[in-house]
This record gives sequence, structure tokens and C-alpha cells, in this order.
Amino acid sequence: YRVEKGNHRHFMAKEIHEQPEVVGRTLAHYVDLANGRVALPGDLPFDFGKLSRLSITACGTAYYAGLVAKYWFETLARLPVEIDVASEARYREPPLDRDGLTLVISQSGETADTLASLRYAKAQGQHTLAVVNVPTSTIAREASAVVPTLAGPEIGVASTKAFSCQLTVLLCLAIAAGRARGTLSAERERELVDALITVPGLMAEATKREGEIEILAREVSKARDVLYLGRGTSYPMALEGALKLKEISYIHAEGYAAGELKHGPIALIDESVPVIVIAPHDAIFEKTVSNMQEVAARGGRIILIGDAKGAAAAGLETLATVTMPDCDAVVAPIVYAVPIQLIAYHTAVFMGKDVDQPRNLAKSVTVE
Ligand code: G6P
Repeated sequence: YRVEKGNHRHFMAKEIHEQPEVVGRTLAHYVDLANGRVALPGDLPFDFGKLSRLSITACGTAYYAGLVAKYWFETLARLPVEIDVASEARYREPPLDRDGLTLVISQSGETADTLASLRYAKAQGQHTLAVVNVPTSTIAREASAVVPTLAGPEIGVASTKAFSCQLTVLLCLAIAAGRARGTLSAERERELVDALITVPGLMAEATKREGEIEILAREVSKARDVLYLGRGTSYPMALEGALKLKEISYIHAEGYAAGELKHGPIALIDESVPVIVIAPHDAIFEKTVSNMQEVAARGGRIILIGDAKGAAAAGLETLATVTMPDCDAVVAPIVYAVPIQLIAYHTAVFMGKDVDQPRNLAKSVTVE
């Protein structure tokens, strides 16, 4: 069917703003609200409790969703996770044991490398699980089990709502795995579910920062290079932020684990390089603050995406602070996807770029 832009200038804007709704819809599918627990529809043909390892493969933005999920599966379910981009995983021919599970993540369900890595895992005798947005896709057909994201058709080439729905489904899977592996108490599961159901509202709250993001995007648009930093799950979010910006604005951007700053990127810092720091007030926040201090000491201009408590605790002068609503650190990546996408979007729009169809990129890469 035909998808319309409605009141939005671009599909990307429409899809960013749709996120509270589609994440809510996805959650309704995977969460038993009455009992405060995750309830996967249908049985999976494997037992999370018996898995030796989880191997994740994907490409692009879906790969970064997988990288966030690695933290969740490891901390909530104590499940060892390896993750690789599908184009490497398929040729690396990694040893995969029969007690392991391969998880592929794809919006389109047609990405050639992701499909090839799925087929490789199957040929090794592994169970395979696919998180896909297109239920009729080749990957959905070939995987031994499918957990759909309910983002609806995504038109903008740069993935937005599919990404936040992937994160939502992956967190539900990690919670289900934690329960099956006995690493998550019923009480903690209820807390996490309570946090999850606040996410659509928090995302809507985050979209209210759009006016100020539009202003700071003008600063970003002047830069030749932009650095994104984060720790923990904010590290893959930094990678995703940099990817979004380069995809649609063509500004060179790099995402780095904040702790790696001193191992290279610090050499780039001067007043011409905006440094976008993704830092919810979580357990490792103080560590990120010391990295921000290192940036500030070299004249770097910090754009902080964090909550009010964190911004006050950091006590640093920033070029801009995008004040996010308070949220449980576990669900922060889903909520923080919004400002990350809006920064890229408004920078590209301000620069007059074709945000829905950036040069050289395709929505779905079905050939190698
Ligand atoms: C292309 C798109 C990206 C997407 C990637 C993986 O590069 O431009 O937005 O993240 O493919 O696509 P998939 O459909 O497998 O998620």
C-alpha cells in the first residue's frame, strides 16, 4: 500500500515521530502488562536456559542494535555473546557449536550478507532466530524462528523507527533469556517491564527537544568532522549517531568508546570539532565525565545528550545540552535514539541534503 508523509517534510521526520506509537505497538506484542512480565508470542524452538553462546550478525544500523543487545544479553542473562557484521561473519566461517544460537537482525529481511550468514549458521546445525521488520522476507522465511518488529513500512533510507523497534524486541528477548537462565529475579523483571512501558512516553517527551536540536544542528552543519562518544550501551549509540550523521549529511563522523579517547581521537580535538557525548546518568557516568573534561581542556566543544541530574553533576560548560527525561539506564538507548536521529536529520535538512534518499545509499542491499 501507499505510505504518505502526512504533515511531515520527509519520510525520515515522519518515521522519527512515529516511534512512540510503533515502539508502543511492538511492546504490546511482547509484554504481558497485567503480570508485569515479558511474554513472547509463541514458543521458540530452543531453550535460552541451555544456550552456550549467542552469535549476532547484521549490517548497518541493525548491527548497532545488535551491539546494544550484546550488553543486555550479557548483563541480564549472563549469556556470552559474539557479534560481527554479516559481511565478515559469512566469510570468517566462525566455529559455531550446536548449543549456540545465531541471531540475525534486519529491517528488510533481504540484506544479502545477513542472509548468507543466516544460511551459514543453519548449515552448521545451529538454531537461528531472526528479528525482522518485513514478515514476508527471505530471512523471515528461512530462519528457524522469527520475532517481528512492528515498525510498519520504513521508507527513509536511514533507518530510524526500525532501529528503536529492534532495540525494543531485543531487550524483551534478553529479559526472557534472563528469566530462563535464572539470572533475573521476578522482581527485577517487573522493574524492567515497568521501565519498558514508560519508553513510548519518554520518546514523545524527547521529541519535544526538537526546537533546540534544530538550532544546535546549525553548529553541527559547519563542522568537517564530528566525534560521538559514549560508554556501555551508549557506545553503540555513539556509533549509530555517527552513522546517521554521515549517511544523510555527508559530514565525516566517528563514534568512539569514550574510554578510547586517549588512544587516538583526542589528537583530533580542537575548537572546530563538535564532540557529541551520549551520557545518561548511569553507573559509569562519572567515567564519561572525565572524558568530557579531557575534551574541554583541549578546547573541544561538547554537545551533551544527558539527563538533568547528569548535566548538573558534570558541571561542564557545553556548546549545547539536550536535556533528556530521566529513565532507567537499561532502556536509555531506546529513548536516546530520538535526539541522535533528530541531530542528523536537522543537520542534513539545514544543509539542503536529500535526507530520504542520500546519495550512493540503498534502502535494502540485496547484492553483495
Ligand atoms: C542499508 C540501509 C541501512 C540498513 C542496512 C541494513 O545500508 O541503508 O539503513 O541499516 O542496509 O539493512 P537491513 O534491512 O538488513 O536492516
